[in-house]
Amino acid sequence: MCGIVGYLGQKNTKEILLNGLKELEYRGYDSAGIAVLSDGEFSSFKAVGKLINLEEKTKNFTTEGFAAGIGHTRWATHGKPTELNAHPQVGHNSYVVHNGIIENYAELKKELLEEGVVFLSQTDTEVIVHQFEKNLQNTSNAFEAFKQTISELQGAYAILLITKSEEKTIFFAKNGSPMLTGINAENEKYFASSDTPLIGECSEVNYFEDGDYGYVTQNDLVIYSKNNVKKEPSFTKLPINKLSAQKEGYRFFMEKEIYEQSSVIADTLLGRLSENKVLFDELDYNFFEGIKEIKLCACGTSYHTALCASYMFERDAKIKTSVEVASEFRYRSPIMSKDTLFVVISQSGETADTLETLKIAKKAGLKTLVICNVDNSSMVRIADRAILTRAGIEKGVASTKAFATQVTVFWMLSLYVAQIKKSLSQQEIEKQIALLRNVPASVHVEDTMHERIKRLSKRYLHGHGFFFIGRDIFFPLALEGALKLKEISYLHAEGYPSGEMKHGPIALADPELFTIALLPQNLLYEKAKSNVEELSARDSTICAISPVIFDKADDFIQTQVREHYMLEFFEMMVVVQLLSLEISIRLGNDVDMPRNLAKSVTVE
Ligand code: F6R
Repeated sequence: MCGIVGYLGQKNTKEILLNGLKELEYRGYDSAGIAVLSDGEFSSFKAVGKLINLEEKTKNFTTEGFAAGIGHTRWATHGKPTELNAHPQVGHNSYVVHNGIIENYAELKKELLEEGVVFLSQTDTEVIVHQFEKNLQNTSNAFEAFKQTISELQGAYAILLITKSEEKTIFFAKNGSPMLTGINAENEKYFASSDTPLIGECSEVNYFEDGDYGYVTQNDLVIYSKNNVKKEPSFTKLPINKLSAQKEGYRFFMEKEIYEQSSVIADTLLGRLSENKVLFDELDYNFFEGIKEIKLCACGTSYHTALCASYMFERDAKIKTSVEVASEFRYRSPIMSKDTLFVVISQSGETADTLETLKIAKKAGLKTLVICNVDNSSMVRIADRAILTRAGIEKGVASTKAFATQVTVFWMLSLYVAQIKKSLSQQEIEKQIALLRNVPASVHVEDTMHERIKRLSKRYLHGHGFFFIGRDIFFPLALEGALKLKEISYLHAEGYPSGEMKHGPIALADPELFTIALLPQNLLYEKAKSNVEELSARDSTICAISPVIFDKADDFIQTQVREHYMLEFFEMMVVVQLLSLEISIRLGNDVDMPRNLAKSVTVE
């Protein structure tokens, strides 16, 4: 959600900024822009829609020699996605880009308006540049004016600002939104919201802490902490090769990522399973000492993983587990006790609500663990322990392989806790370890299966809604199936526990109400089947997914007979992902970048 890049140096600034923004496209955006300050002159370009529109606008613009440049992809929060609202936002002599939300922007704007400042946009960001220029009138020093401005802002932000009053400088500030800086061998400075734009450009980067602010010049990188104390950068190495995903013949990144699940899950398992034990280098048994309960907190798809985890923890590890939506948890004055392990789940490691719950838990003195796909992300750096899911870069906004690897980690983690608590027999642990080794095969996409789903998808492009239903751990999978469909097809879909239909939702049943029924053979089959029959009796159109032939369904997707319900879970996960994908493609939607959605939700 919103991406920031910055560059100060001799190279082709325009290209560095545009390439950097391309690497951040996956975060989701609806407009983009750049501003370059070179030889005392500003050049700025903005465009609504995809980056190709910005490239078109800048095609006759060249940058040569030393320059300071900033760029931004915007995901609208305050004001529609228009060119005027796109960043960089401009004052008289300065430009700013910002990721986050300035919570007190209305008060600041009111004062500035009263003083005669003219605003061009509806954004909260614009107050930053005007406030800076106002403060600059009272001091001859641009950094003092910037520092004063930052101290007046409330909310979350990553900010880059360039100004004619201090030409060869980029000012920066970070609080709550991600940002890092890198320096190359020629001492040139780069900024970005995540490390991908910097891979290949710099070998070392400094991740800013919340409250950091400062500036870079040709020779210096000056950082102050939130206590206004100057601090040294703390550099960490970046990988040398760009691992940036390419579509490799698939129609969409999402499709590629569905197909990749088999190999990424194999990576997730790597080194973590022996014949008779689950191993996590990241953990030790002492970490669980005194822990009586687990609390899981996350958003969206990661929240569905948390629900899955709660079934596994209680069933196998016999440990009390509760699950919370992060945006709710953070404001409901939760009771927290130190015998609770607080676990956050996040693909990106940057989701604002989840990050905040992690901070709350840490502050309350709880042990914390994050399950995350992005090393060095904010959550990984803050949590006591981190387990990386190893899904690789996920470009499709609708999460697939990240979810698959998260669930795999939790299956292993529940066995790990079961080992500590001796809640399962050694024989059962070994049996489940052998099953875990079969997960990569269970998510392998068979051509015949994909073809069948492709053909079926044409019958599900209309109607007044979808119910995805399942029991037990197949209920969170139903929620995830419904979320996938909603996100990329824009059709209304709900996930329900199968047994809950008759308590209200069944009132909607008619032929135009499509029910996608998850019917695993190895878990509550008869119970779930009865619930589907109730819907069938009310003439709901049913698409059943099961290894067992079910003649009361209008459509039937036959999965393989498997020895354990978790292997059925993983196969059915692929089926619901493919179904959403094919429906979305038929509807002509942008599968990888669905409307209104962002990959990394760094505002609350
Ligand atoms: C859905 C999806 C979102 C994310 C949610 C949390 O496909 O990707 O629902 O799961 O925004 O994001 P992370 O996992 O990065 O914290």
